[in-house]
Amino acid sequence: MSDYQAVINEYNEQASSYTDYTSLPCGVLETQLMTNALGNCEGLKVLDLGGGSGLRARQVIELGASSVDVVDLSPEMMRVGKDIEESLGRNKIKWVEADLSQSIQHLQLGEYDLVMANWLFDHATSEKVLEKMWENVVTHIKPGGRFVGVRSGDPRSLVFSTGKYGISYKDLEDIPGGIKLRYVMHVEPPIEFEGTPMEIMYSGSTKMHEKFGLEDVRTERYEDTEIIKNGDPDYWKMFLDNPGMAVNNLGILYQRMGLEWARDNIAAFGGDPNRMVLWGQSSGAALTDAQNLAFPDDPIVQGLIQQSGSVLVPVGEELVTEDPTHSNFTLVARGAGVPHTRAPSSLNA
Ligand SMILES: C[S@@+](CC[C@H](N)C(=O)[O-])C[C@H]1O[C@@H](n2cnc3c(N)ncnc32)[C@H](O)[C@@H]1O
Repeated sequence: MSDYQAVINEYNEQASSYTDYTSLPCGVLETQLMTNALGNCEGLKVLDLGGGSGLRARQVIELGASSVDVVDLSPEMMRVGKDIEESLGRNKIKWVEADLSQSIQHLQLGEYDLVMANWLFDHATSEKVLEKMWENVVTHIKPGGRFVGVRSGDPRSLVFSTGKYGISYKDLEDIPGGIKLRYVMHVEPPIEFEGTPMEIMYSGSTKMHEKFGLEDVRTERYEDTEIIKNGDPDYWKMFLDNPGMAVNNLGILYQRMGLEWARDNIAAFGGDPNRMVLWGQSSGAALTDAQNLAFPDDPIVQGLIQQSGSVLVPVGEELVTEDPTHSNFTLVARGAGVPHTRAPSSLNA
């Protein structure tokens, strides 16, 4: 019998109500944070660890992903997901039953452009198990790929004692490295699951990420979601004072790894490691810019081509720059003596 039999049973029994989570206030917020973190997923091959009934797998497909492999230990959660996909007439998700507290190397899944683990880490019963789960994440990200995941906030925060945003925690008990508790999801009727969030995760510490070489952790800003921007500030104050969850996006370092790999191997393909240029379009241009800013002392490449974008114009609907015509660029380019620099207004592609 699996160490996780109780967890399997609980998810199996309550699987059909789980998808209602997305209609709760924190579920809506999570979906919007995920949309911002995921950006354009056109053509990506995705792995969703602890993907359950495929809530986020479906989201990533709607954002353009070509395929998603969901790995989870609850057959019923995955059955609910399969039924939904079937009803949509799609066949883009593969469902794999496995325990992620153990190595899943034997499954030989290969490498992915994007790996997700949303709320999975809250089921690590110790730091050792947590490390195993992270190992399963990093061994499946390909060079140039990235990780996006939801983690919980401090379980003792006021947000979770009230259930105001749709989730509350009860029966809290200290365990080595973390807290054992029961999550209550206030769908109709409410459902409950046991969880064991480890402090190293919910505290927002990046120690675990660093241990696995994932140093550049970006946490999505709540203020960049519609529900917070256009919602009632009084209603969301308690949440924002001590957020109940965070969406982490670890992209830059993996792009850096891709560059490092190209530098180390490009000669074998007839290329010159001393004459490499990094190019990106739209969100890719913003990330090209991010590489430049993150590694100014050793950019690896000799040139950057940012086609229609910079870190000031990130993925998303809204332009957050005060320089929408990119006149700063024109000014710097002219100052640097670049000939034939076009008028600022024509740069706003
Ligand atoms: C809170 S649900 C989140 C599901 C999904 N990621 C989402 O965001 O909708 C946690 C999921 O983790 C799965 N899970 C928990 N422990 C696991 C383990 N050791 N191995 C694989 N899956 C696990 C559960 O079966 C459940 O589907």
